[in-house]
Amino acid sequence: MPLTIQLVAENAVDVSAELLAVPVSAGAQLKQEPLARIDRALGIGLSPIVAHEDFKGEKDQQVEVTVGGASPFRRLVLFGTGPKGKSSPADLRALAARAARAAHSAKAHSLVLACPDGLAPEKLRYLAEGLVLGEYRFSKYFTGERRPKSELATATIALGSGHRSGKMHKSALALGERVARAVCLARDLVNEPPNELYPERLADEAARMAKEAGVKCVVFDRAEIERRGMKLLVAVGQGSTHEPRFVHLTYAPKKPRKKVVFVGKGLTFDSGGLCIKPAAGMGEMKSDMAGAANVVALLAACAALKPDIEVHGLIASAENMPDGTAYRPGDVFGSLDGKTVEIINTDAEGRLVLADALAYARTLEPDLIVDNATLTGACVVALGKTCSGFYATTDRLAQQFAAAAKDAGEAFWRLPLLDDLKDQLRSDVADLKHTGERWGGSITAALFLREFVGDFPWIHADIAGPVLGDRATGIYPKGATGHAVLTFVELIEQMR
Ligand code: BES
Ligand code: MN
Ligand code: ZN
Repeated sequence: MPLTIQLVAENAVDVSAELLAVPVSAGAQLKQEPLARIDRALGIGLSPIVAHEDFKGEKDQQVEVTVGGASPFRRLVLFGTGPKGKSSPADLRALAARAARAAHSAKAHSLVLACPDGLAPEKLRYLAEGLVLGEYRFSKYFTGERRPKSELATATIALGSGHRSGKMHKSALALGERVARAVCLARDLVNEPPNELYPERLADEAARMAKEAGVKCVVFDRAEIERRGMKLLVAVGQGSTHEPRFVHLTYAPKKPRKKVVFVGKGLTFDSGGLCIKPAAGMGEMKSDMAGAANVVALLAACAALKPDIEVHGLIASAENMPDGTAYRPGDVFGSLDGKTVEIINTDAEGRLVLADALAYARTLEPDLIVDNATLTGACVVALGKTCSGFYATTDRLAQQFAAAAKDAGEAFWRLPLLDDLKDQLRSDVADLKHTGERWGGSITAALFLREFVGDFPWIHADIAGPVLGDRATGIYPKGATGHAVLTFVELIEQMR
């Protein structure tokens, strides 16, 4: 049962729910609202608790109290928000997500979240997003005892008595819900095991989303991929019994002001191929299609947001396996672009499938190309498991992207396209080698991709870290990805 979000024009303490979640701004006094009202209504004596926890409403402070007696509430959670009225979209999202997660740990079926004072109606969207994102769990494959016993079924946002809930409030909530459900779709796809989700299935899921959302979807099978000359995508997939797929999704409004193409790496499993990976951690490579999942999610979000921007989503999907038919180090292949590539390490497959997708993206003559991929371990070494790396062809574009990431609450750090490292990609037998030496591995991967982008404005995001990591931000429970989708959404919204 999906979470139902509702809105009431009442004070939170007057709503009947198992968990009461209240944001409290910095410097709040026990004698003032909202704390005074909670103290009166619950009769639990908040004073010593708040004093003991040194709770001052500062950002990221959180106090949980078990409530007994006649009150319908079983648990109270106070969230510090920092200075009043200063909450960013990312702060609001994190607040609501933390409330949903608190409800989950308290095994509550219902929660009421007091709306921060004076919140503009359109910002309710971020609370809805946080609730849905925080509530997310992947429990599809549990049976019997392992099935979740309690689920958060209803979340009520309490605007406070004396407020009115109107059309603006409702549409903001509905929009937030749809955007967050799109992110959850990316998470579902990433969490799906690789025996279930192979390229054909990934393409099916993209097509299913497209049908539901009303966007266009074209899928190329192996024969069509070959016919079109995507030789690198074929090469990467040729060692697997599961054939590769290429997906082209299109959201096309009536009079678009701009055209953007998003590209995703869709390796449904990356064993490394003949240059096979060590056994430890190999299972994590089921998430090597996270970039593609983000593209599917983004198109679903666009269908809800309806920007006046044409958005294309391209997915290059294959399974990288060792086999008698697998591609090898030393092989030379052509590409959709025409450049020839000498294969060095079959585990550097991502940049190969992306190269063909980027060459395809160019044919759409967009104003901007954005690719995202779980591309290099080197990027994880550089930035850790909470932050993605990104590259941009201009400083202005980099600033725009960084601003979008900030509002999304997703950590991204710009890395440089260092021409000094370009020599590493020189081959003696082909136009390009596809890998360089160990040092600067994220940068040489980006430099390789740049060879296929031409002169188009371009952003490359290496999302390998966050896809592997356990998120600390509150909106990402363990085992849930989708990192980058909200940044892409913000980027599109800022382009309007
Ligand atoms: N999918 C991996 C990158 C990756 C590593 C993602 C760890 C998430 C966590 C990619 O295909 C890969 O194997 N890259 C190699 C490139 C190397 C062979 C040049 C790497 O990073 O080791
Ligand atoms: Mn690899
Ligand atoms: Zn890979």
